[in-house]
Amino acid sequence: MYVGLSANYGAPLLLWNEMTFLYKADPVRGEQWAQLFRVLAPDVPFYVWPETGDPKAVKYIAAWQPPADLRATFPALEVIFSVGAGIDQFDLAAIPKHIPIVRMLEPGIVESMIEYVTQAVLSIHRDIPQYALQQRERLWKALPVRPASSRRVGVLGLGVLGNGVLEQLQRWEFPCAAWSRSPRDIAGVQTYSGYDQLDDFLARADILICLLPLTAQTQGILNRELFHRLPRGASLIQTGRGAHLVQADLIEALDSGQIQFAMLDVAHSEPLPVDDVLWAHPRVRITPHIASATRPEGAVEAVLANIQRHREGLPMHGQIDRERGY
Ligand code: NDP
Ligand code: OXD
Repeated sequence: MYVGLSANYGAPLLLWNEMTFLYKADPVRGEQWAQLFRVLAPDVPFYVWPETGDPKAVKYIAAWQPPADLRATFPALEVIFSVGAGIDQFDLAAIPKHIPIVRMLEPGIVESMIEYVTQAVLSIHRDIPQYALQQRERLWKALPVRPASSRRVGVLGLGVLGNGVLEQLQRWEFPCAAWSRSPRDIAGVQTYSGYDQLDDFLARADILICLLPLTAQTQGILNRELFHRLPRGASLIQTGRGAHLVQADLIEALDSGQIQFAMLDVAHSEPLPVDDVLWAHPRVRITPHIASATRPEGAVEAVLANIQRHREGLPMHGQIDRERGY
């Protein structure tokens, strides 16, 4: 559905030709992008995969997963945009080194992540998963209502999404902490950085939120050792990537009571296989990778602004560092 243009839109932004744009992700959204391009960049030939027009004219690709054989098929390619905030689904080795890779930075992703994480934190804080278990037993039993100021929240990852989430959680007066790779300073948030400070961060996280990118360093980070560094009875909100989590370790931690509840928005294999034990675990809530979603209006605006920057020789917003992997 075409939803309309934000206040920033008005006149078409671009009048360039000879720069074919190829979209390769969900085709329904592709049609929304196409509609926005027709308004905002009417001179740009825009194709939704598997249509490509003349592949030799393709300069920009936006994809969840880029096509194979980029170098041979799209020799004029200048930039690859991820339609998502993460780029771990890209095979970086298959993307020629001179092609910049740009992740999606647009307000819709942040807003929807804030909504998702806030509802998950409030739900755990107010014992809603526990009441769901009690309901199954037809058990009418009130649990003590704790003030938010007594429930410590910790966010793994202090990037665009972590910052947005923390800003909202602070409004509810949850004591907030965050962990990142490099030292950060945020008013009202206890910040930790690097693996040396990870244990101290975990020791004060009654609710742990994972908002890390998936890299060689963060793969499998949600494991037995980490769970045992949390206060007993802590809960997990996993909105990063499936491969952050060692599933068997989570199940063990849930069954032993070390972890009380887990809200999982991402899975090791998506869709989560129907016979996966997580589906039926009474202390697990699953959502199908919907914590956040790129909104076409914001996405097209961000991509067009970045193309403009690229053409002016300026750094693009969201360009990833291949060495870091995010
Ligand atoms: P950013 O790149 O803005 O931030 C990443 C943060 O993680 C930074 O603070 C970074 O530290 C930190 N980090 C990275 N590697 C390490 C490490 N080895 N040790 C400690 N900290 C580390 O990412 P976003 O906030 O935009 O997005 C985060 C992730 O959220 C995405 O990569 C994706 O996996 C996930 N996501 C999930 C969605 C969903 O619907 N479930 C939707 C969108 C995103 P530093 O500040 O030092 O660089
Ligand atoms: C993203 C996602 O990275 O949807 O944007 O997970």
